[in-house]
Amino acid sequence: MAISRRAQNISPSPTLAITAKAKQMKAEGIDVISFGAGEPDFDTPENIKAAACKALGSGFTKYTATAGTLGLRQAICNKLKQDNALSYKPSQIIVSNGAKHSLYNAVMTLCDPGDEVIIPAPYWVTYPEQVKLAEGTPVFVKADENTGFKITPQMLLSAITDKTKVLMLNSPSNPTGAVYSRQELVAIAEIAIQKNLYVISDEIYEKMVYNGGRHVSIASLGDEIKKRTVVINGLSKSHSMTGWRIGYAAAEPQITAAMVHIQDHSASNPVSFSQSGAVEALLGSQESVKMMVEEFNKRRKVITAGLSAIPGIVCPEPGGAFYVFPNVSALFGKTAGGAVIEDADAFAAYLLDEARVAVVPGGGFGAPNNIRLSYATSMANIEKGIVRIAEAVGKLA
Ligand SMILES: Cc1ncc(COP(=O)(O)O)c(C=O)c1O
Repeated sequence: MAISRRAQNISPSPTLAITAKAKQMKAEGIDVISFGAGEPDFDTPENIKAAACKALGSGFTKYTATAGTLGLRQAICNKLKQDNALSYKPSQIIVSNGAKHSLYNAVMTLCDPGDEVIIPAPYWVTYPEQVKLAEGTPVFVKADENTGFKITPQMLLSAITDKTKVLMLNSPSNPTGAVYSRQELVAIAEIAIQKNLYVISDEIYEKMVYNGGRHVSIASLGDEIKKRTVVINGLSKSHSMTGWRIGYAAAEPQITAAMVHIQDHSASNPVSFSQSGAVEALLGSQESVKMMVEEFNKRRKVITAGLSAIPGIVCPEPGGAFYVFPNVSALFGKTAGGAVIEDADAFAAYLLDEARVAVVPGGGFGAPNNIRLSYATSMANIEKGIVRIAEAVGKLA
């Protein structure tokens, strides 16, 4: 076989698969309500689009520095200082083609073949695949509803071996919406320092925190943990810029320099005029971010209450991001027209066929009892979707 073992080893993304199927059904004229997408349903704010158009008009269409323009890296430093109490120099920042690319560079920089990378489960589907691409070993630490889907210090300690190199942290979390408190992060940081671990801290959902909660960057908890942390963030979720492909990382100079070398030879710079839009996103008015988060918060309450009212579905209220992650295991073993709902995959397939509602089964996130619903869709869709799910669940025997 000509295909490398590395490539064969990669699992397809379950999120992309379900959204693709829902899109295809829609294209065929079927009225599908999709809770699959991991992207805000709002347009990119006008001021950001205008800044990119202006850059294009002025001929800003050539290569930039691999790590991104100095102006953008400076704007990122200002943001990290202002929002996260983190001091970095522009030389410690690398801008990449989306936060996914930033994560990839970080994993490739920190992980040698055979190194173990601790991934708290439920996890975002991409983490284990990136670790496998770097020939590292993903080590899952499973958290469930009992700890709010968060790992405890004891759980972390029991997963550490002499091969452990990195901890992947994602707060607020995709898929659970869990948000780690400062106190919880302090305990994790102490372990990371004591056990000589690096932390890759994916903070892409930092703006979506509800109920008066606050996002805390683990890197802000002291100099020692800051030196061991690669902070990952981006504009895809906060500024509804998924298609612009702007993510960034902040780290110790040596780590950033290594990430730049990898990007030098794999992708070069992120799109020049996207970077101009990103500067405006970071330095311009944040009113649109506020508006989007307020709207997500309203939807969060409606979807949590609606799903919780359906017998057999247990839906904890998430503190952040734009996903709910209900447990549907009480429905396993029930039948639909003779066919048994054996697991979350079967339940998601049943919802798509019977209710024309797309949700993502939790297996791909390391949580086979759950399904993920994104509420980055209109309130009307949420209300209609809940009615459909309730009807479909009501038909199970
Ligand atoms: C947890 C998490 N990290 C990173 C990303 C990647 O974001 P980007 O679109 O900037 O690559 C996503 C996107 O779904 C995500 O959910």
